[in-house]
Amino acid sequence: MKVLVIGGGGREHAIVDALARSPQVEKIYCAPGNAGIARQAECVPIRETEVERLRDFAAEQGISLTVVGPEVALAAGVADCFKAAGLRIFGPTKAAARIESSKEFAKELMARYGIPTAGFRAFTEYAAARDYVAGRPFPAVLKYDGLAAGKGVVIAQTMEEADAALKDMLLDDKFGEGKVVVEDYLEGPEFSFMCFVSGHRVWPMVLAQDHKRAYDGDKGPNTGGMGAYSPLPFITAEDERYALEHILQPVADAMVAEGCPFEGVLYGGLMKTAQGIKVIEFNARFGDPETEVVLPRLKSDIVDIFCAVAEGRDTRLEWHDFAALGIVLASKGYPGSYEKGHEITGLENVAGTVYHMGTKADGDRILTAGGRVLFVVGRGRDLAEARAAALRDVERIGCDNLFHRTDIGHWAFDK
Ligand code: AMP
Ligand code: GLY
Repeated sequence: MKVLVIGGGGREHAIVDALARSPQVEKIYCAPGNAGIARQAECVPIRETEVERLRDFAAEQGISLTVVGPEVALAAGVADCFKAAGLRIFGPTKAAARIESSKEFAKELMARYGIPTAGFRAFTEYAAARDYVAGRPFPAVLKYDGLAAGKGVVIAQTMEEADAALKDMLLDDKFGEGKVVVEDYLEGPEFSFMCFVSGHRVWPMVLAQDHKRAYDGDKGPNTGGMGAYSPLPFITAEDERYALEHILQPVADAMVAEGCPFEGVLYGGLMKTAQGIKVIEFNARFGDPETEVVLPRLKSDIVDIFCAVAEGRDTRLEWHDFAALGIVLASKGYPGSYEKGHEITGLENVAGTVYHMGTKADGDRILTAGGRVLFVVGRGRDLAEARAAALRDVERIGCDNLFHRTDIGHWAFDK
């Protein structure tokens, strides 16, 4: 079959790579793709949010399955558009994707269905939000309500910081139409629990952990993610069962009950607190960079899974035992401003897998073209071996404008 992947980052490269392993796949297109993806798929110059153009392309090329990577495409209604045209697509409708695109929708759903999460209140008025925060303990957790590429959350230690963030979010319209959710502050290790979901059916994936801060020791600004690994030694089988039975399954059921059944990947951003496992956030798609360490561990044919989800059929997931650990190579300056167009060398010397996150081809040369540029995945019998393999490969890659964290996986090594 011919398949189309929508998106052009590391996550989509990992999806393309998984599809390329399926004997059922004859041709892969990726829109817009990137220089790494171009080695495994034909890249099509259509942006993620041009949903009608994507639909027309899929119809004209006889694509039998489209897989959506990024949230912006879902929020633009790509699944609705494809479904209306009778085209098979893996990804939730715009209504179901609200579990990610609207923090308030997600929090109210969890409150209504008794899903464990931090207590919260939503505000649209700056003065009311400020007064509420001033009367509560710090740190204060302030979340801009809407898609903000992982950068819409501020953990304010003082009233001055909280006030500046509330002004940004509610007065200056830095992000657009303003609404803010103020949450209780939770503590504990975070982990990502992604499940394939089709209405009431839920198939759990192996767990992974992302590293959101820019620098070693979890210091510096929040980013889209600087590294990830799987499995997670500090989450027990019992924790996993609890999360499935008390969080992911009931949320899938709730979405059906609410009239917006979920189809696609439901991503639970969870925290193991002293009071049990709680939800930090949901995403309506594969996580990035978690997908880049989870899908390499998938033994089953991913096409069977995508089709089972789209058709509401049963299927089984099998996983490899090896550990996978991946390190992001990001442009100096990221997540702030950074330069593009620096040449990358040595990719042919890498022993493991490199997923491209933000690259561009210039003839035979590969250039940096984004904040996060490459994702280097090491494999091993355990996480220590996987990290050593990833770090060895990082050293084989040359570029004068990249930096990376050296402590990915520290949660697993320190405990
Ligand atoms: P989110 O975009 O909702 O995942 O938030 C980004 C990051 O902020 C999370 O990965 C957490 O590290 C942190 N965070 C979010 N909500 C809370 C909370 N209620 N308590 C503590 N930390 C939080
Ligand atoms: N890694 C977090 C996310 O995909 O939002």
